[in-house]
Amino acid sequence: MRKVAAAFVGALVAAGVSAPAATRDEPAVTRPQIGSGGGPDLEIWRETFRRPTEPVSADGEDGPLVRLGRHLFFERLLSGTGRMACSTCHDPANSFQDGRPRAVGVFYKTLSRRTPPLFDLAEVPALMRDGRARSLEEQVLMPVLDPNEMGQTLERLLEQLGRVPFYRDAFDAVFPGEGPSARSIAAALAAYVRSLASPETAFDRWIEGDESALGESERRGFALFVGKAGCVACHAGWRLTDDDFHDIGLPDRDRGRGALFPDVEAWQHAFRTPSLRGVAARPPYMHDGSLPSLEAVIDHYDRGGVDRPSRSSRVRPLGLRPDEKADLRAFLESVSRPVGSGS
Ligand code: HEC
Ligand code: HEC
Repeated sequence: MRKVAAAFVGALVAAGVSAPAATRDEPAVTRPQIGSGGGPDLEIWRETFRRPTEPVSADGEDGPLVRLGRHLFFERLLSGTGRMACSTCHDPANSFQDGRPRAVGVFYKTLSRRTPPLFDLAEVPALMRDGRARSLEEQVLMPVLDPNEMGQTLERLLEQLGRVPFYRDAFDAVFPGEGPSARSIAAALAAYVRSLASPETAFDRWIEGDESALGESERRGFALFVGKAGCVACHAGWRLTDDDFHDIGLPDRDRGRGALFPDVEAWQHAFRTPSLRGVAARPPYMHDGSLPSLEAVIDHYDRGGVDRPSRSSRVRPLGLRPDEKADLRAFLESVSRPVGSGS
């Protein structure tokens, strides 16, 4: 994480670009040149976007804690009605999201935000779209106890799990003498979520140096992504995110991080920058699912969104030509194409 960030800043400095800052007044990223034949700038960007080789989770891919967490993730006793599991919204067959513009809770009430995918979250410093959870351990019980989301109570959950012999044994094995408790349930769920890693993509291969992994249009799209379109100002690093919060000028009323920090102007309407890995596979987009396709996302950035004091200075009308929009879209598809699935 730190290495990637350092490499990113290094790349910006080398390209004559100032490092990202949280203020609105900081200048928009200017254009490092990516020649089609590669060259020194490309080497710098490769360092910035390289996927780390260490495993994502310290808990191991498949230890007993992760296995217990996986069981709980699919467990309907976690909801007050016994009908809903984490996997109802975070569907493993659908990038751990649900394809709906906004999530639907236990009483069929539409919630205010879209279900996010659950990949590569081990390094994310503040979870939820507004960053209100400081760790996975803190996050995972929030949906369970939220009356509109899963509508369970801790008391009932502990009692119900305690009655199932499988859980009595499984919790005893991992947490001897403790059994199911708020702490042990959260630890197991967090370990499972932490173990979820997005697949390697064509873009990763290209970053590793395999020139044939990306087509012409995809490579032009990358040059736009780190150049004229300025996407890299926020979508940098191997997960294509700075994990920071920005207002990108979407017109809805949700104040995002601003609801937690009413006095911080730059956080009004600000949401965490999402990872773009696998993004083409999971429309609709944004915290409210308001943009139905990647074309709509690119059109939004091209127009620059609602001009208001909180909007990031890095979001502004871009003047992209139709062929450039098509290239940018091709690039976003290349960060979503798992290796081995053809093109
Ligand atoms: C009703 C659908 C629904 C259910 C059920 C649900 N979630 Fe979520 N989940 C969401 C939504 C919506 C958000 C985003 C909320 C926000 O940011 O305000 C979210 C956010 C998250 C996040 C944060 C992801 C990020 O990128 O910050 C994690 C982790 C997560 N859920 C795990 C779980 C676990 C574990 C369970 C089961 C205990 C669960 N969820 C149950 C809809 C759901
Ligand atoms: C100022 C920082 C910033 C810049 C510059 C930026 N983004 Fe984003 N991007 C964000 C944030 C923040 C969100 C989430 C907004 C929300 O959920 O409401 C986002 C969301 C997205 C999404 C939707 C992802 C999802 O899962 O819903 C896509 C796709 C995307 N950006 C692509 C791009 C492209 C392409 C560019 C360049 C044209 C770009 N971004 C420039 C910060 C930025």
